[in-house]
Amino acid sequence: MAGNWKMNKTSEQAKFFANKLIHDLAGVNFKVILCPPFVFLSDLAEILKGTNLSLGAQNCYYERSGAFTGEISPIMLKDIGIEYVIIGHSERRHIFGETDEMVNKKIKAALDDGMKPIVCVGETKEEREKGLTFCVVESQIRQAFFGLSKDEVLKTVIAYEPVWAIGTGIVAKPYQAQQVHKFIRTLLGELYDAELCQKISILYGGSIKPDNFFGLMVQADIDGGLVGGASLDDQFVELAKIVSRML
Ligand code: PGA
Repeated sequence: MAGNWKMNKTSEQAKFFANKLIHDLAGVNFKVILCPPFVFLSDLAEILKGTNLSLGAQNCYYERSGAFTGEISPIMLKDIGIEYVIIGHSERRHIFGETDEMVNKKIKAALDDGMKPIVCVGETKEEREKGLTFCVVESQIRQAFFGLSKDEVLKTVIAYEPVWAIGTGIVAKPYQAQQVHKFIRTLLGELYDAELCQKISILYGGSIKPDNFFGLMVQADIDGGLVGGASLDDQFVELAKIVSRML
């Protein structure tokens, strides 16, 4: 389970909430990743040291260093002990113009520097209405993983996040999400092999809430959730409890 805090919280709020989560999620026996804004990562890395919670960044650039004003490189993240990085989130793609080619470069750069990318894909409302969901997702997956070996892809996590479900309160129906998850798994089986498609984790994201999470999590090909709004407060703890009860 990953919590994408997006551009939320002050420094004090971030530290307070991280400490609360250390306490409330102390017993969980599955991977929980917090993805706060860049500026809080160092402090939270200290706070979370030795706990069962991991940290991820929400983005990175694909060069190691240089004249790239405002950007953060994977090696900088690695240097402060960050393990994961979200790449290709729909807000990056749609608000900041990230292309599939940039997503591919970022995944490669992150892997080269020992980070684990959480790779986001998903169709817009318009694309779904036109019947293009599978076509769009296939193209995003193929381009994201272009040139990557099986071992590299195994270090990534995929997040299927239909754009129409992100931050809208309109969650995908479990069967809709399952269809796409299964499609992605099958595609990876074709691009790589059966072992990879069984081992890789595919998270669902988009308006996950405590009242809809169980229905999604029981689907055969949904391995977890990438949570936005509900990762900012106690709902995140409720979501973790739902997963705990299922294991
Ligand atoms: P949401 O965001 O849970 O607020 O819909 C999910 C995401 O963008 O990862």
